[in-house]
Amino acid sequence: MTLNGNQPVAVQADQVWFSYRNHDWVLKNISLSIPPGKHTVIMGPSGSGKTTLLRVLAGIMKPGKGHVAVFGQSTYELEPRELSSLVGYIPQQLGLVRNLTALENVLMGSLGRLFDVKTLLGLFPRAESERAREALDMMGIAHKAAEPVFCLSGGERQRVAIARTLLQHPRVVLADEFASDLDLALASEILARIRRAAEQENITFIMNMHRIGLARQFGDEVLALRDGEIVPGFIGNEILETAQAEAGQ
Ligand SMILES: Nc1ncnc2c1ncn2[C@@H]1O[C@H](COP(=O)(O)OP(=O)(O)O)[C@@H](O)[C@H]1O
Ligand SMILES: [Mg+2]
Repeated sequence: MTLNGNQPVAVQADQVWFSYRNHDWVLKNISLSIPPGKHTVIMGPSGSGKTTLLRVLAGIMKPGKGHVAVFGQSTYELEPRELSSLVGYIPQQLGLVRNLTALENVLMGSLGRLFDVKTLLGLFPRAESERAREALDMMGIAHKAAEPVFCLSGGERQRVAIARTLLQHPRVVLADEFASDLDLALASEILARIRRAAEQENITFIMNMHRIGLARQFGDEVLALRDGEIVPGFIGNEILETAQAEAGQ
């Protein structure tokens, strides 16, 4: 699948509809096209369908109508291991294992690639452990590598979740309400680190967010979702200006 005939598209949605039941559509005719390396923020009120859209784009849920592709592949048709090498999904609750250390959680990100008896027993190749430490370092949390996750703060856990996803070596990462509950300075630092890591690893990021200042910092593109639809005329950075004008800033 290509953009302008020769540039590949990282994430493409064509006329996507989704309902949890009875054709009660939560996503309505969503079409989008995200080029590789661009970071997209999806903004919208609570209940507008942000989480649903992210899960459908990540291949976790199949659209009722329409089509989703990541680098030209229909995500919901892939085997779980193929999917995890293409797409990393970070749920709002992060999905970390509380009793394992930060480093162990990060190493779990590589299970999809290295899956065998040794890794099942927790015996990861040394190179992989080094990579896990590097990922923690990139996120500024290497000094807590040996701490169990239940001892870490919310921001520290988010750093670990990103590091774990980096070990998966996905081409696209989707993160739900990431950095939403952190104070602005902390959220801003973590997002800056994510941008650096994404550039280094050549990852395309899509994030749901509800804070405009952060969206502006992180997003090359901001999509506005309202009642399951992308609001026409609000695609791009215009949503920021409009929302700020409405807030009287
Ligand atoms: N598992 C589910 N079953 C049925 N309805 C759901 C489910 N998850 C979400 N919804 C509904 O879908 C709509 C969009 O939800 P969601 O995608 O979570 O929105 P957002 O992330 O923007 O808050 C809401 O009306 C919500 O109640
Ligand atoms: Mg949500």
